[in-house]
This record gives sequence, structure tokens and C-alpha cells, in this order.
Amino acid sequence: MPTSQDQLKKMAGERAVEFIHNNMVVGLGTGSTVKFMVDALGKKVKDEGLTIVGVPTSERTRLQANRLGITTKGVDEVDHIDLTVDGADQIDKRFQGIKGGGGAHLWEKIVAINSDKNMWIVDESKMTDQLGSFPLPLEVIPYGSKQLFKRLSNKGLNPKFRMKDGQHVLTDSKNYIIDLYLHQIDDPEKLASELDHMTGIVEHGLFLNIVNTVIVGYESGPKILHA
Ligand code: A5P
Repeated sequence: MPTSQDQLKKMAGERAVEFIHNNMVVGLGTGSTVKFMVDALGKKVKDEGLTIVGVPTSERTRLQANRLGITTKGVDEVDHIDLTVDGADQIDKRFQGIKGGGGAHLWEKIVAINSDKNMWIVDESKMTDQLGSFPLPLEVIPYGSKQLFKRLSNKGLNPKFRMKDGQHVLTDSKNYIIDLYLHQIDDPEKLASELDHMTGIVEHGLFLNIVNTVIVGYESGPKILHA
């Protein structure tokens, strides 16, 4: 029977937990793959009586971690973060990534850039030659977001507000999300720099030169890749 995508995500998540040891401060990402990792970490903390501090990148992850008995602290309550384990929506051959499919990329990027090491856990479908077939998320300030939308449209960036039941999806920081349907991104660095300079965008989902290690769940087993 072929391995399901969830089984591949679980495989990557469980392998990642082997890199988490006693007394570590660990950034906890967001998403369905991370959910498997946090489940496994909760079990490890309980079984081995570990002292671990988790720094969650979303309210969702914080609630799950606390439910499982993992102590959590905010990013401003810790001196440093040893390792952050997070998911990703796409990773290219240069280990550049798109994140934010779950709308958490602002907090994820803040935790990631304050971590000594970053590890991404994904199933094999996330690995790609070129970024862009997954829409690129932007977290934007609600004030002036329609004007920002027009500016993005005029640049040919094909924006769409992320909506649910006719309402704007709100991030944990109460901002909106605009997804850019770009299909392919030829120059991620150039696009990142352009978006970095657009007023109203709080953060984009291009994660460039951030990750150190990627664990990919394949049918044949988890593979560890070093960036
Ligand atoms: C959350 O906003 C994202 O950056 C996730 O890390 C990413 O979308 C991966 O999620 P899945 O593990 O659910 O695919």
C-alpha cells in the first residue's frame, strides 16, 4: 500500500525529535507536519522526563504544546533558541523556501532568525526545482490593504486576499493575508527585496538562507539534507 502524505509528514516529524535533547530551547513551527512533531516531542518529554522550553510560532502550536505538557515561552522571554523545527510549503534545490500556507510566517520568521539552527520537516511533495507554484503569502496591515492590493496588481503580482466564509483570514497579529499567485519565481532574492520595501507588507513568505537542515519524508524513509 502506498504511503500517505500524512504518513510521510509524521515520519519527518518523528525523525526531527531525535535532534531535541534535554535543556534545549526549541522553536516550534506551525502546520500539519509540525503537529506530528509536537505530538512526538510531547511523548518524548513525558517518557524521558526532559526539561524543554518550546517557543511556539502560533497560538495553535502553543495550545497543542501546553496540552501535551511542554513548557512554552514567548520569543521575548528567552535568551536564545537552540533549534527551531518548522514545516515549509516549498523548498528548492538551493534550500530557499516558501512558508505561510498556514498564515503563520511572520511569527515563524521572527523565531527562525533568532534561532541558532533551523530545521524544516516536509513530505517529498514540497521539494521543487523552482519556487512559485505554491502561492506566496504576504502578511499585510489591514489599514490601506486595498491600496496595497492595487499596487501589487499593477506590478503583475496576481494578488488575492485570503478569505474564509466571506471574511478576511486574520493572523495571530490580527493582520490580513494576501497570496501572490506567481506560478514561478525566477529570482527569489530580487522579489524578496522588492516586497521588503513595500509599505504595508509586514512580512512575506520567502525564507531565504535560513534553513540548515531539511528532513524529507520519502516512501523509502526519511532523508536528512544539509543546506
Ligand atoms: C505555516 O504558516 C506555514 O509556514 C507552514 O509551516 C507550512 O504551511 C507547512 O505546513 P504543512 O506542514 O501543513 O504543510
